[in-house]
Amino acid sequence: MEHTILIVGHRTGIGRALTKLLLSKGNMVLGISREAVDYEHVNLKSISMDIDDLEAINLPEHLSGLVYCPGTINLKPFKSFKSDDFINDFTINTLGAAKILQKAEKALISAKGSVVLFSTVAVGQGMPFHASVAMAKGAIEGLSRSLAAEWAPNVRVNTIAPSLTDTPMAKKLLGNDNRRAASEQRHPLKTVGTPEEIANMAELLLESKWISGEVLGVNGGMGRIRN
Ligand SMILES: NC(=O)c1ccc[n+]([C@@H]2O[C@H](COP(=O)([O-])OP(=O)(O)OC[C@H]3O[C@@H](n4cnc5c(N)ncnc54)[C@H](OP(=O)(O)O)[C@@H]3O)[C@@H](O)[C@H]2O)c1
Repeated sequence: MEHTILIVGHRTGIGRALTKLLLSKGNMVLGISREAVDYEHVNLKSISMDIDDLEAINLPEHLSGLVYCPGTINLKPFKSFKSDDFINDFTINTLGAAKILQKAEKALISAKGSVVLFSTVAVGQGMPFHASVAMAKGAIEGLSRSLAAEWAPNVRVNTIAPSLTDTPMAKKLLGNDNRRAASEQRHPLKTVGTPEEIANMAELLLESKWISGEVLGVNGGMGRIRN
């Protein structure tokens, strides 16, 4: 049986770091992003596609892993959010994940696969201006636990809740030295995350055979401690 891991959002950030890590360990990766990736590998098949079109994708018969990376950081005071903000954040963070998981159910079950989704530290810990993304990512945590129950014992489903991580998505928040230093200081471990750090946790969850239904914080200590 051929083992393939599907990474939605493999062009940049955490999905890119994870794709490279998985390829370096001999895995086959099927990657989906809107724009073409600037790296190649004999075991990588890249598809250019928007998550809006995911229902049209042909998936392999067996998927040993699925990781859904697209997300948003749309931060503003609650009163400034329009309905379109809520809908857009939910569509990208949550609905896209649900759609690809429905498509992949059979292939994941047949390979006894593992799913990794992404939430944010701002679901477990309230943060100003995060209402819309926290709503969408809170739904991801609910989806993750529901599917972990519904698909057990065949498929494991877990979610990573990162804090601020140095990827293109976080560019605005880390855009100059002052902002970066302030962000680093807010974290008990005095640094922001790297995509590789989060990718390591995703790989562990893909490989592990006895973790399911968990939301794992990878957050520089932001989740549980104060100093
Ligand atoms: N970075 C952080 O500080 C942070 C913090 C907490 C949680 N997270 C979560 O971690 C996950 C990964 O974030 P990241 O920082 O690695 O993000 P990123 O660098 O922006 O990467 C997102 C990936 O998804 C793809 N993508 C985005 N929209 C898409 C669409 N409509 N259709 C298809 N592909 C799409 C992008 O490629 P294309 O542009 O080519 O489509 C890219 O490959 C997200 O769910 C995010 O919410 C991140």
